[in-house]
Amino acid sequence: MNEILRRNLPNILIALAAALVQWQLAARLARAADSAGRHGKARTWRALGFVLIAWTLLMPVVFGTGLQLQLPGNGAQWAMAATLLYLATAFAGGAAYFLTSRNVVNPSRRQALKAISGAIVALPAGFAAAGIIRAWSRPELREISIAIPGLPKDLQGLRIAQLTDIHYGPFFSMRDLEWAVAMANEAKPNLTVVTGDLITRRSDNLEECVWILRGLKADAGVYGCHGNHEVYARAVNAATALGRAAGIQFLRSKSATLNFGSAKLALTGVDYQPQASRYLRTVRPQPGAVNILLSHNPDVFGRAALLGFDLTLAGHTHGGQINVEILHEHLNVARFFTPWVYGLYRQGGRSIYVSGGLGTVGAPVRLGAPPEVTVVRLCAG
Ligand SMILES: [Fe+2]
Repeated sequence: MNEILRRNLPNILIALAAALVQWQLAARLARAADSAGRHGKARTWRALGFVLIAWTLLMPVVFGTGLQLQLPGNGAQWAMAATLLYLATAFAGGAAYFLTSRNVVNPSRRQALKAISGAIVALPAGFAAAGIIRAWSRPELREISIAIPGLPKDLQGLRIAQLTDIHYGPFFSMRDLEWAVAMANEAKPNLTVVTGDLITRRSDNLEECVWILRGLKADAGVYGCHGNHEVYARAVNAATALGRAAGIQFLRSKSATLNFGSAKLALTGVDYQPQASRYLRTVRPQPGAVNILLSHNPDVFGRAALLGFDLTLAGHTHGGQINVEILHEHLNVARFFTPWVYGLYRQGGRSIYVSGGLGTVGAPVRLGAPPEVTVVRLCAG
């Protein structure tokens, strides 16, 4: 119980703050209507406030218990996305009301405040529109060279395509995934990996997703690991079996040893490692090989580096989904969970690449973190 409360504390605090803002707004609007003698309008404001506050206070329960992932149909996902936009607009509305309710005598100043508060209210919708356009646009091909100390000659220049966080469903369609698969294939990788979150919810079409992924082509094969949403959707075994039939080998605490000339590459995969659990208890790097770990959760990197994995490929954070980069520092919600949120990090000669991934959760919005297909190129350190 304590753990559930601790995990959902940010949701609860946001919902309480949003409820308070709405209560203030509804009460003030009702009072203003009452003093103008419009008692019917005042009653409407109070009733609307009551309904919206009740809905807002339900949100920590819906998100905290994972209920939004169990709701069938795409309508439920859109309702959740609309609620998130509404909550952001409620906060903006509160700020705007605070600005305009101050007693300003100067008419031109009053006019300016009105214009500013209008812009503040419109801001969440504006950002949402920009974010939806970005989320639904063609993914970027992000090519990155990663230096590995002592990399054998036969592995120099090896190209690994990575697709992650597809979240196939109402926010990421067949067309989007077909684009991503075509982009990965056009990069002519030696190896392709899929690092989890194929779907979001149990009712998403996992079969169709894997059927499209069947089109991935790489000389040395297509491998994968599972994400937290396969766990939430109770689809880990189904995804593994569908993957096997489609030529994708999901590595579940297992390694595949691949030979490139005289060099050995050990590719190890783990199921989703729950946040702050004892990471990577079931896997070890192979001696005499270059070791690459596939882990959906990037937070394992400290332990992976310590164990001796040369490179970790991860996803999970969606690059923060709404990400602001200031002086090469990523500011986004994922920062609360892990220091490795987006891009390449190095620690003592070991590296992790955290892909921004393809799809979205909560709302189909991406800002500062465009959907990406990654191509990693190994080079000597
Ligand atoms: Fe994800």
